[in-house]
Amino acid sequence: MLTGKIIEELKEIAGKGNVIADAEKLEAYSHDETDAHEYGHLPDAVVLPSSTEQTAAIVKLANREKIPVTPRGAGSGLSGGAIPEYGGIVVSLEKMNRLIEIDRDNMAAVVEAGMVTNDFALAVQEQGLFFAGYPMSLQTCVIGGNIAENAGGGKAVKYGVTGRYVLGLTLVTPLGDIVELGGKIAKDVTGYDLKSLIIGSEGTLGIVTKAIIRLIGYPTAKSDILCLFKTPEDAIGLVPRILSRGVTPVSIEFMDSLSVQTSCRYLNESLPYENCGAMLLIEFDGSDPAQVEADLIETGRLCESCGAVEVYVAEDRNNIERIWNVRRNIAEAFKVYSPVQSLEDIVVPISKIPSVIPELQRLGTKYKMQIPCYGHAGDGNLHATLVKDPEMAMDEWKKNEKDCLAELYGITKNAGGKISGEHGIGIKRRESFGELVNPAELELMRSLKRAWDPNNIMNPGKIFCLQSNRLYRQTLYNKNMAGDL
Ligand code: LAC
Ligand code: ZN
Repeated sequence: MLTGKIIEELKEIAGKGNVIADAEKLEAYSHDETDAHEYGHLPDAVVLPSSTEQTAAIVKLANREKIPVTPRGAGSGLSGGAIPEYGGIVVSLEKMNRLIEIDRDNMAAVVEAGMVTNDFALAVQEQGLFFAGYPMSLQTCVIGGNIAENAGGGKAVKYGVTGRYVLGLTLVTPLGDIVELGGKIAKDVTGYDLKSLIIGSEGTLGIVTKAIIRLIGYPTAKSDILCLFKTPEDAIGLVPRILSRGVTPVSIEFMDSLSVQTSCRYLNESLPYENCGAMLLIEFDGSDPAQVEADLIETGRLCESCGAVEVYVAEDRNNIERIWNVRRNIAEAFKVYSPVQSLEDIVVPISKIPSVIPELQRLGTKYKMQIPCYGHAGDGNLHATLVKDPEMAMDEWKKNEKDCLAELYGITKNAGGKISGEHGIGIKRRESFGELVNPAELELMRSLKRAWDPNNIMNPGKIFCLQSNRLYRQTLYNKNMAGDL
């Protein structure tokens, strides 16, 4: 609980209208795209700062009073990173959504953390420039969230993930200081690379309020092929072969038939050959249409000679966008039709992908559930989704889900992979991460957290706990009791 005095102070900092403490209005800030019943938690207040200085003042106050602070972008995360697990203050960046500058001479843009990624991408595209990040929730997610999770998405095979495009950051530290990391510079070995530490740290080391984003020229030629296979194994087995040719597609996305059909039903859309066993959606881009076409034809031939039953070429923008829309909406469609589920995010070396897919089928049979799979096959990043059979009792599902995940994560680790390629650890994978990570590595992470955030106020409990939940709650309780006295 926050005292009336603290709420007043927050209003003084951010303005009366930018502090929410109404129980009804707080609900929207209590969950992300994970299951709200399982992970959701109400904040005590939400503050909507409109500047870095206001953000810093809020954090200074929270640090002084030892109140948990949870930074929040669009709330489109998939691991609970923006959920205020211990209550306290949610700092929502939704009002800091301006594109401050497009600096063509330096091929850079300066943008506030709350700007919707798609709006940003379209704004730079108008000037012939390209932001190569392409998270699948791009129409809702915001730049700050992309940075907090080091978002991947659909173009990472060729262009890499968000971090590659972050030249600089404005960060409010857990002590409420403001630091500028990196800059409009291509190289920087001036001390530790703190900017890279922040990217993907899930808001546990500070609040990013602004970023300098690297832009590249907009690729004017683009073409996609949709390759149809009889089985998921046939499709996925081809991925290392496509990549080892040395021509790098923008993306190689994999979708099994249940994933395609579920998304098509959700969108009331249809795709060519949507009843096939599995699909690869492969995109090429560049500045020379003839080269893009040549790459595409060669890859299509390779697919045909290795078991593709059909290869459909989508050259016009409208068709390409329709296919990608189906791909982007798979997660949402499963959420609607199979709300009791666990959306996973494992990543393995690409040579190991073919050995993982049959394991999903084996696990599905063993634990009596369906495990449809789709994802960024070109990155070895697979979204296996554990889906509860409606007939199964909840207790049995909970146990099977846990055992199945433990087995899946074990398979992933043995293959040289990691349990999250892009969604992060957050709350959802915290326990598994703690069990699988090398204890010495975990201790290094904890010591960084302690050094940056001595009062453990900044998104506490995400990724790993510094102390047990019970102890942490007790500390907050003691603090609040002392405050009341
Ligand atoms: C996707 C999200 C779930 O790839 O990461 O659709
Ligand atoms: Zn994904």
